[in-house]
Amino acid sequence: MSTIAIVGAGPGLGLSIARRFGKEGFTVALVSRSQGRLDDLVGQLEKDGITAAGFAADILDRPALTGALHRATERFGPVDVLEFSPAPKQADDPALTPVSALEVNVENIQQQIDYYVYGAVTAVQAVLPAMIERGSGTLLFTTGASSALVFPQMGNVGIASGALRNWVLALNATLADKGVYATHVPLATWIGQGGPETQPDTIAETYWDLYIKRDEAERLYSTL
Ligand SMILES: NC(=O)c1ccc[n+]([C@@H]2O[C@H](COP(=O)([O-])OP(=O)(O)OC[C@H]3O[C@@H](n4cnc5c(N)ncnc54)[C@H](OP(=O)(O)O)[C@@H]3O)[C@@H](O)[C@H]2O)c1
Repeated sequence: MSTIAIVGAGPGLGLSIARRFGKEGFTVALVSRSQGRLDDLVGQLEKDGITAAGFAADILDRPALTGALHRATERFGPVDVLEFSPAPKQADDPALTPVSALEVNVENIQQQIDYYVYGAVTAVQAVLPAMIERGSGTLLFTTGASSALVFPQMGNVGIASGALRNWVLALNATLADKGVYATHVPLATWIGQGGPETQPDTIAETYWDLYIKRDEAERLYSTL
């Protein structure tokens, strides 16, 4: 049975991606900060007959994130698909508040870099060596649209998520001959706040489609 690990798993897109891959027979490992919230998501997946478990970790705590992915591997076997889509909540994470291009300073970039770049690098390091050894695997990354498009009000977020995007595009090129596929989805939408095209279950189809076709380094998902 194949396993997908979703880093930054919540009730929106994370749960929908979990369901989409679970429906295809994947076992699901969920990573976010609260074991209680993870257990609730696992319960929802189990109702759909999907095998899932939650491994609590904060992506800003790199040893904890590595540990969570190692525990997922111990429980379910190697991770076949890593999906990275944490969504900061400003109330919980004031240091991650977006600032405009004019307000950017070293301090308000640093936490965004920790979150997007160091978080993703840590997650990838926990699973990629085994993927390369097996000659198969998929790395899916999600960011907001400021990673790829100009949103002046998202100055610090755009710097960090744009750096993550650049790395994913480089991974895509570098891993092509190693059987591992890396791709990036910049989301230019407000999830769940519009018509069917904004609903997380609809957006999750994009991830399954990318996983199956494996021929795009990036797919912009835009409803704006
Ligand atoms: N929502 C939107 O309108 C929108 C728009 C554009 C792009 N996006 C992107 O789309 C993706 C999914 O968004 P979504 O809103 O649907 O999110 P979601 O999948 O419902 O939840 C994401 C989860 O990330 C977890 N998280 C936040 N900070 C974390 C941390 N430091 N360590 C570990 N986990 C953390 C949170 O859970 P805990 O609090 O329990 O840790 C949250 O529930 C994200 O990449 C987001 O940036 C969203």
